[in-house]
This record gives sequence, C-alpha cells and structure tokens, in this order.
Amino acid sequence: MLLKELNRGKCKTYLVACERTRTAALIDPLRDKVDRYLAVLAYHTLNLAAVIDTHSHADHRTASFDLKELTGAPVLMHRAAPAPRIDRYVADGESLALGTLTLRFLATPGHTPDSMCILADGKLFTGDTLLIRGTGRADFAGGDAGAQYDSIVGKLFALPDETVVLPAHDYRGNTESTIGDERRLNPRLAGKSRGEYMALMSSLGLPLPDKIQEVLQPNQSALEDDALKFPTLAQLNEVKQLAPREVHGLLSGGAAPAIVDVREPDEFSGELGHVPGSVLIPLKELARRTDELAPHNDRLLVAVCRSGVRSTTAAAILTSMGFEHVSNMKGGILAWNELRLPVER
Ligand SMILES: [Fe+2]
Repeated sequence: MLLKELNRGKCKTYLVACERTRTAALIDPLRDKVDRYLAVLAYHTLNLAAVIDTHSHADHRTASFDLKELTGAPVLMHRAAPAPRIDRYVADGESLALGTLTLRFLATPGHTPDSMCILADGKLFTGDTLLIRGTGRADFAGGDAGAQYDSIVGKLFALPDETVVLPAHDYRGNTESTIGDERRLNPRLAGKSRGEYMALMSSLGLPLPDKIQEVLQPNQSALEDDALKFPTLAQLNEVKQLAPREVHGLLSGGAAPAIVDVREPDEFSGELGHVPGSVLIPLKELARRTDELAPHNDRLLVAVCRSGVRSTTAAAILTSMGFEHVSNMKGGILAWNELRLPVER
C-alpha cells in the first residue's frame, strides 16, 4: 500500500493506493489543494478511484465535489451524511476494493452523526473521531459525546493494539499513533467512564471555528458559495424542529401541513423516496420559487431533506422571507424511513 499525507499541516489529507494496479483514493481532501493532489496523482501515475470524506467538515471546504468533476472519481461518505451528489453512501462494515487493497468502513458517530473511520492494511484513518492524545469536539453539527465514547471505546479500541492511527487533524506536530498507545495514554479516555468523558467534553468551552457556517453549509449541501445566501447560526438555531412521528401525526389530522422537500430531483425519486404529497423545490431554487408556496401560506410548512440539515437551512430561509409557520423535520427522510413511515417514489 502506498500511503502519503499530502498537506503537511494541521488538517490531514491521505492518499492511499494499490501499487500493483495504480488505483488510489483520497481521504478528506481540502478544496484549496486540488492542484497539488492532481499533480501528486499524475507524478505517481495513479488513477483516482475514490474520494472519501470521513464526515461533514466544519473547518474546511471539501475538495470532493471538485475532484469528482475533474477526474470522474466517485465520492463516498457515510449513509448519515447530509450532502447530495454523494455517489456511494456507505454503512458500517461495508468495504471498497482498491486494486488489491480493501478499505473497510466503520461507522463511528459522535464528532458528527456521519463520522466514520476507514481501516486499510492495518492503518486506521480516524477522521475527527479519535485524534492523537485527543478526540474531535462533539459540540456542534449534531455531535454527541456519549456516542463518540461508544464509537471509540467500543469499536476502535477493540482493534488490535498495533493498528496505526492516522487522524484528520493534529495540532501538535504528531503524525501517527497506535490503538494500543491511545487506549493507554489518551488523556480524554484512559481510565475514564462514559459519564466522565461526557462531562469533560461538555466543559471544553472551545470557540467555534472561523466561518463555520460558511464552510459547513456548502459542504452539507454541495452548493457553491454564490448559489445561495446561507442563514446565520442564530437563524438556524431558531428553526422549530418536529420529529418524523409528529409530522406523520399532523398529516393525518385536520390541519395537515404542506411538506416542502428541498433535495435534488434524483434524491426525491430515488431509493429513500419522499413523504407522500410533498412539493419538491431544491434548496438552491427555494428563494426564487417561494410563489409556489403562496397557496399554502395559511398552513404549517414543514421542510424535509435527506438528514434534516439542508431543510433546516431551507426553513430558516423561508422564515426570513416572511413565512410565519415553518418547521423542520428532524432527521429528514432517513429518519422517516427508519420508522418505516410511508413513502412515495
Ligand atoms: Fe471535523
């Protein structure tokens, strides 16, 4: 296996490749380094076969969509990822063949709901789930410190001690560690109960990353900066959230809400289907197509998307445009499907 970290900075991007078949994958590429990645691939005569994000990043724009456009390489993310245009959503335990190599995906929610780690040839790409002597923060973008503890202690620490840990970030100049060392020496985890870990994580008081919304929202919606005026964090926080069961209950009641599905048309008619009777208006077209919602202005509008992230953005936009009764369906059509509620395709 050919393995290289390509950024030489605090944010890590890994190139992994099968040397025999010259097929490569890039893990967590940064948008401002696309030229470098393409040059490295060309220099080593490697064919890019997959681009993988370990989770929805809040600190940098992903290069996945640019690399896909430039090379045709498919983009892979965990099934819970909110973004559209992902070519393969993977679930826990699935794998990808890269020439003679096998990349195995481990769902490790906590830092974000869509966090996963990738195991290849004894190397574990841990994203922001497990860092060297640290862990990724769990206080934004659907983070959950308890789930993160379970992912790390229950799943990653069950791997062989000698497994090499390669994180997506390091702020102290470290390059790699091992599962055995992290189990023994990671100060956030060694000797800590789940409750102690959760208390520790909620007391970190870290400032939000610069421009978090300007980064996270385009990453989660696969939209360019100029495609949409994204709402502020304060506007997003004010969006009323309804559980799928509540939405289902309202639909069968007297004053049924209007469901506005803001995904792409191929998602609307795809595998997950949509809530029966939904109106489809993709997020990037929402602001200029609100006249289509005018007939429903006296009803509750419920925004829906894949995981509830893009639709929270949509609900905030509709509220800012003067719609008075707007809610978001929490967890999106993924959560709706998990409850086996009815869908149309
Ligand atoms: Fe992250």
